[in-house]
Amino acid sequence: MSHQIELSGVNKYYGAYHALRDIDLKIRKGSFVALVGPSGCGKSTLLRSLAGLESISTGDLVIAGERMNNVPPRKRDLAMVFQSYALYPHMTVEQNLTYSLRIRGVKKAVAKRAAEEVAATTGLSNLLHRYPRELSGGQRQRVAMSRAIIRNPKAFLFDEPLSNLDAALRVHMRKEIRSLHDRLGATSVYVTHDQIEAMTMADHVVVMRHGVIEQQGAPLDLYDRPVNKFVAGFIGSPAMNFIPATPGPNGRSLTLDLGMPQIVALDRAVPQVGKLTVGLRPEHLRIVADQEAMVRLPVGVVESTGSTTYITSATVPEITVVVGERQALSHGQMIGLSFDPRHLHLFDQESERRIETTDA
Ligand SMILES: Nc1ncnc2c1ncn2[C@@H]1O[C@H](COP(=O)(O)OP(=O)(O)O)[C@@H](O)[C@H]1O
Ligand SMILES: [Mg+2]
Repeated sequence: MSHQIELSGVNKYYGAYHALRDIDLKIRKGSFVALVGPSGCGKSTLLRSLAGLESISTGDLVIAGERMNNVPPRKRDLAMVFQSYALYPHMTVEQNLTYSLRIRGVKKAVAKRAAEEVAATTGLSNLLHRYPRELSGGQRQRVAMSRAIIRNPKAFLFDEPLSNLDAALRVHMRKEIRSLHDRLGATSVYVTHDQIEAMTMADHVVVMRHGVIEQQGAPLDLYDRPVNKFVAGFIGSPAMNFIPATPGPNGRSLTLDLGMPQIVALDRAVPQVGKLTVGLRPEHLRIVADQEAMVRLPVGVVESTGSTTYITSATVPEITVVVGERQALSHGQMIGLSFDPRHLHLFDQESERRIETTDA
């Protein structure tokens, strides 16, 4: 199976600064890949390296079977869709769409027809004669997309295209971009710092930190089996709870350190590896009657959005619990918590790497 884009052993230095470290990434034709990670982790640098706007220092970049390391951007046949829509303000939508074709010498009538076809796909048919200032944020975003589509590129590259939009429009555009990708049978690489965007839009999520790919895989695989504490804390909202712990003497329990020690019996074999960090997602904790409780905690803050209640414990570290029902709880009240031991994540406290547990 050939890949549309393939990076192997890619490093990028800005002077002495090591911005990309040993990047290996294969992007299948037709896939939607999200690059996600905190600000400054190298997402844009990686995307710009694909586009040829940055040169890579070492390694190989292959696009559609051709080595592209030294090929200039316009010959790579990729289309970049930016966050600031970068539309030409003095041109109509139609002129914005046809511009890239016209400068390549495509005949006016042919370019016009191409613009009309793309506009029909992206729902802009009635707006071809408008100027960018006469469009809403969502419509401008669609023009930016259309301008990329009209070039029929080998892949679409998106750099945080939705960050300027309000929350409701962002959710709408997420679906619109993904469905456009599907209809066109496109290959897309999408940069975002928003893990929800990455999880909901992509087939393949690449989590980066400090220029390194920490983990890549299908969205739910990252959620279910994060390889380290960083990925565990980055994927999922609200973030996973982390609790320092030590293995119990019988190999089937953990002592959690929540200010006071709490022993939790498990039906799983806990490796005897010294200090651990336990990871529990807020949505995997249940409030239960005292006799069923695995952990007992004092309530700190209770917040409700109507549909969902967020409970934060008055412990160090704080534990967050998310429940669907409303809860009449008051500050300082003790609650019992329970969880399915299969939802427990264990990390080595020192290396922060995932430790597997097994059914005991
Ligand atoms: N042209 C540049 N010269 C020097 N350092 C840069 C340059 N561009 C980006 N960087 C640095 O490289 C790191 C990664 O940047 P970037 O790829 O823009 O991160 P992200 O898009 O994930 O927020 C940052 O620390 C940034 O300061
Ligand atoms: Mg960026």
